[in-house]
Amino acid sequence: MENQVITILASSWSELTFNQQWVDALESGKVLFLPNLGFKLQDSEQHLLNPLLLSPKSKNISLDAQGLLKGASTDNVTLQTIQSMIARYALHSQQLIKQLLPQYVPNIRFAPTSYRPAQVEARVQSWRADDKRLHVDAFPSRPNRGERILRVFANINPNGIAREWRVGEPFEKVAEQFLPVCKPYVRWQAVLLQKLKVTKSFRSEYDHLMLQLHDAMKLDLNYQETAQQQQVLFPTGSVWVCYSDQTSHAAMSGQFMLEQTMHLTVDKLYCPELSPLAILSKMMRRPLDGNRPHF
Ligand code: SIN
Ligand code: FE
Repeated sequence: MENQVITILASSWSELTFNQQWVDALESGKVLFLPNLGFKLQDSEQHLLNPLLLSPKSKNISLDAQGLLKGASTDNVTLQTIQSMIARYALHSQQLIKQLLPQYVPNIRFAPTSYRPAQVEARVQSWRADDKRLHVDAFPSRPNRGERILRVFANINPNGIAREWRVGEPFEKVAEQFLPVCKPYVRWQAVLLQKLKVTKSFRSEYDHLMLQLHDAMKLDLNYQETAQQQQVLFPTGSVWVCYSDQTSHAAMSGQFMLEQTMHLTVDKLYCPELSPLAILSKMMRRPLDGNRPHF
């Protein structure tokens, strides 16, 4: 398999500029890896590297654009420090996108920024939530009708422990393998799911197929083992970027990571025809967007 990770050696913001090859790689589902532009914690933030800050039932701590912090339980001063660290990371990831992908900037919608202090290996999860299995991101309750999921990750482990991923084959290959076994879309079920508030908005045929791919990949243990894939170690102090709705990925080990999700509509990509929406529409021989409910 062709290397799915493109290393960008820039070590200052001024060295990081628009580069068509990098954009093509990212929009084709490859991972952009920046070992020298990582996010550094301040001395006053070092004590935040502690999984006990997590609220009992939370997997991560998040900060939304309105400044609302969720998932942490500790004293008020520490909450303030967590908030400012996460907010600084949000700015760091915005700067990265501004330098690398200037056309995206006016069109990006920011999701909450998340801090994940838990150890990946220690998590016990259902097969569906198990991110140690190769998958493309698709969320049952959050349909997006093709809108992209762009993520900027940073490993901030204080003990030099890398975040270990497996990166799988390109999205077309995943779709070729699993589209034939996807259950057909049933529109009235999508209407019902929205009415019952199981989904936050209408689940389109695109959302249905993405969920089916996500589930089929995770359920197929033979595929997990035998699919083309590469091991990637993201060291402490590095940052990496990918479209997680397109890149087949699995997080195998590591602890202490920051993550910023950004959303972008397909028409605002440099190359919309590389998107999962375009690929799946082509393979299904019909447009998969625009199928809104008719009440
Ligand atoms: C994922 O997006 O599947 C998990 C990423 C990570 O925890 O490194
Ligand atoms: Fe994921």
